[in-house]
Amino acid sequence: MECRVLSIQSHVVRGYVGNKSASFPLQVMGFEVDSINSVQFSNHTGYSHWKGQVLTADELHVLYEGIKLNNVNHYDYVLTDSHISSSVQLEQCTWALCETLEAPRPAPGDRRGHMVIELQVSHEHRRLRCCALSSVLAGETSLVHELSFIITLRGEESTEMGYTRDTSFLEMVVDIVQELKRANPNLVYVCDPVLGDHGSMYVPQNLHPVYKNKVVPVADIITPNQFEAELLTGKNISTEKDAVEVMDLLHKMGPDTVVITSSDLPPRLGDRFLVSLGSQRILMPDGTRKTQRIRIEVPKVDAVFVGTGDLFAAMLLAWTHHYPTDLKTACEKTFSVMHHVIQRTISYAHEMAGPGRRPSPAQLELRMVQSKADIEDPAIVMEATVL
Ligand code: ATP
Ligand code: PLP
Ligand code: MG
Ligand code: NA
Ligand code: MG
Repeated sequence: MECRVLSIQSHVVRGYVGNKSASFPLQVMGFEVDSINSVQFSNHTGYSHWKGQVLTADELHVLYEGIKLNNVNHYDYVLTDSHISSSVQLEQCTWALCETLEAPRPAPGDRRGHMVIELQVSHEHRRLRCCALSSVLAGETSLVHELSFIITLRGEESTEMGYTRDTSFLEMVVDIVQELKRANPNLVYVCDPVLGDHGSMYVPQNLHPVYKNKVVPVADIITPNQFEAELLTGKNISTEKDAVEVMDLLHKMGPDTVVITSSDLPPRLGDRFLVSLGSQRILMPDGTRKTQRIRIEVPKVDAVFVGTGDLFAAMLLAWTHHYPTDLKTACEKTFSVMHHVIQRTISYAHEMAGPGRRPSPAQLELRMVQSKADIEDPAIVMEATVL
């Protein structure tokens, strides 16, 4: 049986994020992938330079109209990435700062020494960067070494920078998903509801209610990180019990499958691990509902990868397709693929960078093509615990 995915994500000429990170692995697994490129950039925004174009809500509508006129608007899945809503990844502005100042990048999950930089946002993202640099250089340079930043953008000012957007693109995606669901009530919408990470916002505040009230309610599978799960539910996660409650709240908002892809919860396997949690609500044949919850710990790699969130969502789509009521297996397969790709990527990056040197964004591009066999048939190296 043919299975067709409409994937609305970023495209980059060089490297692997968005559609570049999702299409190849899905195709390798036998899915038909129809892609709409929400942006077309030279490369991801973690490089020193990037250039390109952004698709508007109207242009998205035109592409969808074309599909519809030919009566080929039948999909089994819709997949959208982080960047349908925005954004200049503020995390990456931070990386640029660190690079310029020769300071180490904040480690994923590091919340120590928060620093607030208020940015004067101009219409050009290059200016944004310059402002960030000069506000740090204007006296607070020493704080840079304390790692981890909160960069605050002032509401509407952020909408014009780089490729940040207003809410119309996101709303158009919701309209399309709703229409496609009317045509196929079994359609599954997989959404990475990206709002931010590690206490800092990626997207302007005006998008939060859209995610909360419009996007999440039509989503069937969501992959927030801890911060996003907290923002969407208004509840903090400090224990596993909190996380379970948050995932229950997220189910109540719509999605039957929730995976919190990373959290600050203490790992049982030691501090070099990363804790993820998942929850799936299943309708039993007798009409009752059952919820399966799992926990999985994966070894943390000391590098910042880009495009991993997009690969994760694509692989979760594929493996929940094969195991629709077995979240444990679907997650073990998904996290095992992640592990294989990340290990191959980091080994290559270190080899390219040479001893003692931190790999560059270009050297850290995911080793996607090289991982074809692992994607098709991943050896299970990650085991999930049923809670
Ligand atoms: P979002 O994309 O919504 O910010 P996230 O922060 O959880 O969510 P990523 O940081 O891209 O997304 O992580 C997605 C998955 O990739 C994680 O669940 C993990 O399996 C893997 N991953 C990403 N970075 C690392 C890392 N440094 N070490 C080990 N695994 C990683
Ligand atoms: N799309 C674009 C255009 C990006 O610049 C980036 C990251 O810089 C991404 C997608 C990747 O996001 P993630 O690492 O969350 O998958
Ligand atoms: Mg992240
Ligand atoms: Na995520
Ligand atoms: Mg992401």
